[in-house]
Amino acid sequence: MKRFSVLDALEKKGRGEKLTMLTAYDHPTASMLDEAGVDIILVGDSLGMTVLGYENTLAVTMTDMIHHGRAVARGVRRALVVVDMPFMSYHGGCDRAVRNAGRLIQCTGAQAVKVEGGETVTGTVRAICDAGIPVMGHLGLTPQSVNALGGLRVQGRDRESAARLLRDAVRLEQAGIFALVLECVPHQLALLVSSRVHVPTIGIGAGAGCDGQVLVTPDLLGLFRAFKPKFAKVYAQLYDEAKTAVETYLNEVRQGAFPGPEHSFGLPDHVWAELKGELTCE
Ligand code: KIV
Repeated sequence: MKRFSVLDALEKKGRGEKLTMLTAYDHPTASMLDEAGVDIILVGDSLGMTVLGYENTLAVTMTDMIHHGRAVARGVRRALVVVDMPFMSYHGGCDRAVRNAGRLIQCTGAQAVKVEGGETVTGTVRAICDAGIPVMGHLGLTPQSVNALGGLRVQGRDRESAARLLRDAVRLEQAGIFALVLECVPHQLALLVSSRVHVPTIGIGAGAGCDGQVLVTPDLLGLFRAFKPKFAKVYAQLYDEAKTAVETYLNEVRQGAFPGPEHSFGLPDHVWAELKGELTCE
């Protein structure tokens, strides 16, 4: 099966076809998304909240991303796998950033990395791209800057910050990104950015004018309950469904209804007859 590539992503934008991206953090979810036909699977550092139980993404480490990235990449045959570079892994010099990007690719089997930020990371983005590693950008609400932004809020709402975001998008494109996530950005601004850059934009809380869309899979499936962002559409209630299944199991065990004969193993009749005989003789 042919792997979806960064060129395929660019070509989809050229043809006006929407790109699809979802997050995964484990092997079974990654296989399911891949079988469903998603274009790009992001091993997002949203891992911190959705799987590891942290309040935000700041505590997620390179070790975490490698551990989960590996599990995801092993489950994917067609989709392009992108791994988030975690907080502080692409700061402290381009050499360090390139080394960490290289580790993520080598140790996980993913095809690309994602970094958050605008003008301040363009040198780093260029260095990683020069090492032959495709980079996805991320502008707007950049959760790794939650403390600097003063919370998780919509970005680019005034003239100055909107102009900065547009400028950042162009600079990131010049630095070599192959796609750009726009998170929590007014839909008019996201549409403008999408028309100004040649690389595909992938929106989350950025309206329908982006070249593609991404959701955090546990939000889509109704598995994440700590909070529900306005932009997240919930397509299933798997937490409730799973909880009902577990409660049914607990009741069946307590009542002796599980396991049934179909879940048990028996001895061959002659072995059982001999064994029973021996046991009765003692
Ligand atoms: O970490 C993540 O899941 C992300 C998406 C929200 C784009 O960065």
